[in-house]
Amino acid sequence: MIKPFKAGITGTGSVLPDKKLTNFQLESIVETSDEWIVKRTGIRERRIIDNGMPLSELAAEASKRAIADAGIAADDIELIVATTITPDYLTPSLACQVQKQIGAKKAAAFDMNAACTGFIYALQISKQFIENGTYKNILIVSAEALSRVTDFNDRKTCVLFGDGAGAVILSRVDDDTGIGPAIIGACGEDGAVLTVPCFFATQEDLSLRSEGKKQVIWMDGSEVFTFASRIMGESTKNVLEDAGLTINDIQYIIPHQANMRILQNAARRLDVPMEKIYTNLEYTGNISSASVPVCLDEAAKKGFLKKGDKLILVAFGGGLTYGAALLTWTK
Ligand code: ACO
Repeated sequence: MIKPFKAGITGTGSVLPDKKLTNFQLESIVETSDEWIVKRTGIRERRIIDNGMPLSELAAEASKRAIADAGIAADDIELIVATTITPDYLTPSLACQVQKQIGAKKAAAFDMNAACTGFIYALQISKQFIENGTYKNILIVSAEALSRVTDFNDRKTCVLFGDGAGAVILSRVDDDTGIGPAIIGACGEDGAVLTVPCFFATQEDLSLRSEGKKQVIWMDGSEVFTFASRIMGESTKNVLEDAGLTINDIQYIIPHQANMRILQNAARRLDVPMEKIYTNLEYTGNISSASVPVCLDEAAKKGFLKKGDKLILVAFGGGLTYGAALLTWTK
């Protein structure tokens, strides 16, 4: 099918909270060590949002930066898609709160939850509105305060996660750049390996958590590890095949930042050097759906990306969910 319009990323922005939580600080909270965390995950520190700060503020700031970078006005935005598993409120949605804070009065706004794959889901869904001519400018903002659903008594999870926000402007582009083939998928039958209960939890789920802690992350780390190592390679290969490209045509893979060993496994499976895999988890930890747009913004601002570069964005997460997209850099 011929698509009448193309959707490209014309602006990016991100924010990490000021407060750092280092591995050494975690040593005084749970029985762990900097050495164990670095060796098993590659993470050295993560950023944590202040108790008194709403996530929407972080999300709005990342959004303002993306809007400025795209050189448009808040009024030009016609749709805001926010992705998060840790919204301040169920309603108003994070997207509506961002709309208010940035003054994007003409935009429709809704939240999406595909856990760590949220940004790729948002990209795949939003690009349809550009391609079919409905909208010209969409804001996607992915923001997470995982510290608010982290059990700091559970050393198996509390060393992994951090907070942050990343945003992009998706606009109609009239050259060969923009988003190419993308895939999104889910394996709901395996969802029990990574859970955060909300208003209800089974007795079994409750028994996996510390006494009195309901709304916190529980994860079977090795099951998630195996799924992630496999699905990242498979998703990337599928997108490349759909695009008629090989891995040699790709300048960078920008993956969800969960664990350096997962990224090394994926690199081996794809037969690419680690230099092609963008990483920042060393100082962000895993910030769920925010991790890909935060990396994208960093890579752009550090000058790693030039117009026409071909990138693969790829993620996996709770659900279980997965997704990947080919992106030809527009700016
Ligand atoms: N410090 C010290 N020891 C620890 C720690 C810690 N923080 N955590 C676990 N251990 C211990 C365990 O208790 C275990 O000890 P035991 O053998 O005496 O029981 C030992 O280390 C090994 O534990 P494993 O769980 O087998 O360690 P593994 O090498 O698998 O690493 C990890 C665990 C890091 C969680 C890994 O499985 C992983 O990264 N999995 C994927 C996680 C992930 O990507 N999650 C997010 C995906 S989706 C999303 O982003 C929300």
